[in-house]
Amino acid sequence: MSAQATQCPFGRGAEAPADHHGFEPFQQEDPFPAYQRLRDEQPVMYDERVGYYVVSRYDDVKAVFDDWATFSSENAQAPVRERGAEARQIMEDGGFTAYSGLSARRPPEHTRIRAVAQKAFTPRRYKVLEPAIRQNASDLLEKMLNDPQRHGDIFSDLAYELPTVTILTLIGADISSVDTFKRWSDSRAAMTWGDLSDTEQIPHAHNLVAYWQECQRLVRVAHEHGGDNLTGDLVRAQRQGAEISDHEIASLLYSLLFAGHETTTTLIANCYRVLLSHQDQWCRLVEDSKAIPAAVDEVLRYSGSIVAWRRKALIDTEVGGVSIPEGAELLLVMGAANRDEERFENSEVFDISRPNAREHLSFGFGIHYCLGNMLAKLQAKIALEEGIRRIPTLRLVKNPETPFRENLSFRVPTTVPVTWEA
Ligand code: HEM
Repeated sequence: MSAQATQCPFGRGAEAPADHHGFEPFQQEDPFPAYQRLRDEQPVMYDERVGYYVVSRYDDVKAVFDDWATFSSENAQAPVRERGAEARQIMEDGGFTAYSGLSARRPPEHTRIRAVAQKAFTPRRYKVLEPAIRQNASDLLEKMLNDPQRHGDIFSDLAYELPTVTILTLIGADISSVDTFKRWSDSRAAMTWGDLSDTEQIPHAHNLVAYWQECQRLVRVAHEHGGDNLTGDLVRAQRQGAEISDHEIASLLYSLLFAGHETTTTLIANCYRVLLSHQDQWCRLVEDSKAIPAAVDEVLRYSGSIVAWRRKALIDTEVGGVSIPEGAELLLVMGAANRDEERFENSEVFDISRPNAREHLSFGFGIHYCLGNMLAKLQAKIALEEGIRRIPTLRLVKNPETPFRENLSFRVPTTVPVTWEA
């Protein structure tokens, strides 16, 4: 590809690269060779196709996450592609005013809301859910095992429902509506981090309106009837003087009803997909299930659910020696950082005994570090423990097609076909 003189929207500092080193922002099939080229050849690259500085080395990604005063998260939930007129109208008419629960908020507002959320979002809350999570995992696997052809799909048979039921229970939402919440979440992922045309946005706009109305309804129900769940906790905290408005509680629910299952579905699917394609390591877990938590961290490093997240420079600054002008937006590619040789020896190798796998950046870093990381890991651990206990002979269907959805941030395998011995 020849070098092009492309106009940087910020007018200084950035020059379009001769090529993009194979990096395709929305393509998630196999981004890893391009990630390596980016790290090696242009670790901070301005990509004029999306308007972001693409940051791919571990130290740079971590440093940006860590410096919230210079790099704000206010663009983390902004639509990558501008919303079309019709979608905007549908959302306005439907009273859609949801804002990010936490991840796109800045201190001091972020500090205030996170303090309230953290109190309601205690490990105690989800520890009590552990037996139900285990039972649910076991029931879902049992159903899969009933297939007379001995064919299953870990994505649709296990990973889809397990964390969704957990978060709906935690929040006090209707657990018989898994498909509805999944549909709304798909719409949110596509409308925010997808590359949709104006026409494609329309059905998703309707879904977002319904999704937001449900979040507001849940807050009203908690005011009227209390409830031994997270929504009830947040409303009680407000009544006891915690500084949080109903709109902020509804916005938190709007975040959790997406973040609380979407990425865990992917994590569970990835645990099976990656481990079963490294059969020797699956067998090690069959022999020693105590190694499962470390294996989950290595899956998060090697194949994270979120491969890229955004930040915005608040002042003229620099990343990895490259000037970044005030107002510029950055795409922090954690998927690339997690395979940086400078941090992880033999970084392209999947190895459940890697001593520093936990240093991955898949949950971010700093003040916005994922609030649900322990719940996500707990569910992946249980999902694996139950699978390994019940079906040690599980294996991937030979040459499975694993299409990944097109998305800027979420790398989602849509199927993990498996079989097992009788
Ligand atoms: C594998 C599963 C998960 C992954 C990979 C993941 C990843 C992330 C990432 C990358 C961030 C942004 C960090 C930053 O901006 O620095 C984040 C924030 C967040 N996550 Fe997760 N997450 C997962 C599961 C969950 C679960 C299960 C919940 C809730 C039940 C959750 C709730 C949140 C919340 C509320 C934030 C915003 C925190 C803040 O801004 O202070 N996440 N997560």
